[in-house]
Amino acid sequence: MTDLSSKRVVLGVTGGIAAYKSADLVRRLREAGADVRVVMTRSATEFVTPLTFQALSNHPVATTLLDADAEQAMGHIALARWADVVLVAPASANFLSRLARGAADDLLSTLCLATGAPVAVAPAMNRQMWDNRATVDNVTLLRSRGIYIYGPAEGMQACGETGPGRMLEPADLVRRVTGLFATGRLAGRRVLVTAGPTLEDIDPVRFIGNRSSGKMGYAVALAAAEAGANVVLISGPVALPAPPRTRRIDVRTAQQMHDAVMAQIGAQDIFIGAAAVADYRVAQAAEQKIKKDGQALQLTLTPTPDILAAVAALPDAPFCVGFAAETEAVAQNARTKLAAKGLDMIAANNVAVDGIGFDADENALTVCWRGGARELPRAPKDRLARELISLIAERYHETHTTEDTGRTHR
Ligand code: C5P
Repeated sequence: MTDLSSKRVVLGVTGGIAAYKSADLVRRLREAGADVRVVMTRSATEFVTPLTFQALSNHPVATTLLDADAEQAMGHIALARWADVVLVAPASANFLSRLARGAADDLLSTLCLATGAPVAVAPAMNRQMWDNRATVDNVTLLRSRGIYIYGPAEGMQACGETGPGRMLEPADLVRRVTGLFATGRLAGRRVLVTAGPTLEDIDPVRFIGNRSSGKMGYAVALAAAEAGANVVLISGPVALPAPPRTRRIDVRTAQQMHDAVMAQIGAQDIFIGAAAVADYRVAQAAEQKIKKDGQALQLTLTPTPDILAAVAALPDAPFCVGFAAETEAVAQNARTKLAAKGLDMIAANNVAVDGIGFDADENALTVCWRGGARELPRAPKDRLARELISLIAERYHETHTTEDTGRTHR
C-alpha cells in the first residue's frame, strides 16, 4: 500500500550527494497523495538548490531558523505541529550526530526536537563513516528514542567504495513512510462509520439540516481503513470525496441512515456514529413548495430514530462508539450519554470553542469509556482521527479475545 492521502510530510534534506535523489522522493511522496514541505540544511543547498525542491513540492523551501519571512509564512513551531511525519533523507553522519545530542542550532534539528510527529531518517554516507563507532552509537541512541532508521542500503558509493551507506531508493522510502500510518491494529475487522449531517425535508426545496461538514467522520473512516479495517461509510450529504479504501453509501435523511446502518450492522465488529443526525424531522413534508403568506408558519416535528442507541441495544451489538457535541460540562455530559445509550466509548468535543468542532479543520476530544478517559488535545481532525482509532482498537482488543472474530465477549 502506498497511499499517503491527506498526510503532511516534512522532508528534511541534509548535505550529501544523495540529496539529488530527494527531488525524486518529493515527486513520489506527492504522487502518493502527501502534502510535502521541504526543509534544507545549509550544506544541502550546496548540492541541490532550494528552487528545485520548491518547484517539486509547490511550497517555499525553508532553510534558516530565524528568517523573518519564512517564520511569517510558517514558523518552525507551526511546521513542527503541521507535520504528520518528519522524514530526513538523506541524513548525513553530521545530522545524525546533532540529532542524537538534541541540537537545536538550525531549522531542521529544531524542528525534529519540536515535533510530536514520528521522525524517520534515511542515512547516507561513506561506509567507513557508517561503521564508525560514533555513528553506530548515535544510531543506537536514536533508535532507542523511537526514531525510525530507514536503511542504509549496501552497494556502490559515490566515493567509489562498496558497502553500507547508500540512501534507500525513494520508492522504498515512500513505502516505509506509508507503513507508519498503516498500523494494522484493526486488520480483518469490519468497521461501520456514519458521517455528515442528515437533511430532513420541509418541502421539495427546503430542509432542516445542521453544520456538520463530515470531516471528522471521514477522517475516522480513513484512519480505520489505514489500520487495516474493512470500512463502510454511511454518509449524509457532504462536499467531500469518499476516503480511499472505504465503501461509501450515500443517504439523505435520518431514516435512510438508520435503514442503511441496520442493513449493514449484522457483519460489523465496530460501529462509530460520527454523523450529526437530525433529532427531528418534519412530520409531514409538503409535496409542493410552501408559499409564504406573511403569517407565522408552524411545523410539527417528530423525533427521528436514535441510530446509535438502536445499534447499541442490539442483542449481538458491535463495539459502539458515539460522538457528543457539547457546549458545557463536556466530560460529564459525555458520561451521561455513554450510559444512556449503552455505548462502549464516547468522543466528546466542545463545539463552543472557536476554531474547533463543526466545519473546522481542527478538533479536540475528551474520550470516555466505562472506567477510563483520555484527553486528545487540539489537533487537525485527521491526526485526531488516527489517535481515536488507536484508542478504539486498544479498547476493542481489551474486550475481545484474539481468536474471537468479534461480535461477542462484551
Ligand atoms: O444524543 P446526541 O445527538 O447528542 O448523540 C450524539 C451521538 O448519537 C452521535 O454519535 C450521533 O451520531 C448519534 N446519533 C444517532 N442517531 C440520532 C442522534 C444521534 O446515531 N438520531
